[in-house]
Amino acid sequence: MKIGVVGLGYIGSVTSVALAEAGYEVIGVDIDESKVKALSAGEPPIYEPGLKEMLVKNVKRLEFSVDYNKLSEVDLIFVIVPTPNKDGKIYLKYVDDVVENIKKVNKNAIVIIKSTVLPGTASNLMQKTGMIIVSNPEFTKEGSAIDDTLKPDRVVIGGNNKNAIEKVKKIWEFTKSPIIETTNENAEMIKYASNSFLAVKVSYINEIANLCEKVPNCDVEVVARGMGLDKRIAPYFLKVGIGFGGSCFPKDTMAFISFARDLNESLSIIESAVSVNKSRILRIVSLLEDKFKDVETTTKIGVLGLTFKANTDDTRESQSIKLVESLLSKGFKVNAYDPMAKVKLDNINLFSSSEECIDNSDAIVIATEWPEFKDLNIKNKFVIDMRRMLSLNSDPNLKIVGYYG
Ligand code: UGA
Repeated sequence: MKIGVVGLGYIGSVTSVALAEAGYEVIGVDIDESKVKALSAGEPPIYEPGLKEMLVKNVKRLEFSVDYNKLSEVDLIFVIVPTPNKDGKIYLKYVDDVVENIKKVNKNAIVIIKSTVLPGTASNLMQKTGMIIVSNPEFTKEGSAIDDTLKPDRVVIGGNNKNAIEKVKKIWEFTKSPIIETTNENAEMIKYASNSFLAVKVSYINEIANLCEKVPNCDVEVVARGMGLDKRIAPYFLKVGIGFGGSCFPKDTMAFISFARDLNESLSIIESAVSVNKSRILRIVSLLEDKFKDVETTTKIGVLGLTFKANTDDTRESQSIKLVESLLSKGFKVNAYDPMAKVKLDNINLFSSSEECIDNSDAIVIATEWPEFKDLNIKNKFVIDMRRMLSLNSDPNLKIVGYYG
């Protein structure tokens, strides 16, 4: 079976390679020639653990192109392009354009929407284009995207055409994961309800962490462990941190909130989660302002970690970057180090090792949970450990002056 994939970004490139690994012939299309060239040369355009090896291994079953005509003979075509926010609302132009382009070369293809789109989008597209559209949201996490694609917790398939649903089910049968077969709207809603729920979970534990800081002998890590052992709660997404970032949670929560408002409903729990997330940054900045009241303009803050989480090079909507911007706006000097981020930031000093960054800074904020930060040797510096890395360090000689986030 030959499968088409349009959009070769973080999710599209992983999906293409994972489908090839499962034995399918895959033709991946993207308008960005540099991505196509890189993938054709066996070089993923992004960092994702295991992706390069799997790409090289399956090169015979993979073809990448900028030419939509390559899809003219393909029955099943995934759409995996971004759905960003514009003025607080979902921006669907990329999805719309891709579906129109597919229609031009292959109007009988079954279009499978993996991009995150609001409930009703697939139905609207079906009306507009007359094409068969199946909704098949993804639940992969950057950093473990290959495993999540090959062995997902569940596969959700929505549509109103039995034959098309059966074909999409067949694609994912190899995963042996439970399959939920439903309407397009339910499939679309499941994606937003899931991402928003996880965002709520993260903000929930971050707010409990604030409270634990005020109560003697209280440690949010222990509290989270105690909560997570309850099967109804589960231990995942209860890791205290700098708040959620990335290309998904921030935009999806915003789009979902505004979708509900347009229907005269309010998603007040999700709205609160978003505002708790914003306050995470303000909390760090005000701690540093309290600590360095008089020397603000010369105080150098070292931010360790710029990606939105570990095991990715992705800095989109990263809370660390928001922290950097906020610190600069308050007059602090900012140093930073990240092992993987490819980012250009004005007015900061980017170091090539954490040691250098630490040596040149008056205070340190650990913002991303890169494993290498567990072994840091920081002496006599004010440390805000937002990811609870150093508390995992058992070195009895390590003396941290300051505060654990
Ligand atoms: C998220 C979802 O987890 C995926 O299921 C979904 O497919 C994806 O969005 C998407 O919509 O495409 P991802 O953005 O890769 O995946 O990142 P997560 O691992 O979910 O982390 C999101 C943010 O929450 C990160 O900034 C992370 O550091 C933070 N987080 C996560 C915590 O602070 N604590 C936790 O316990 C978990």
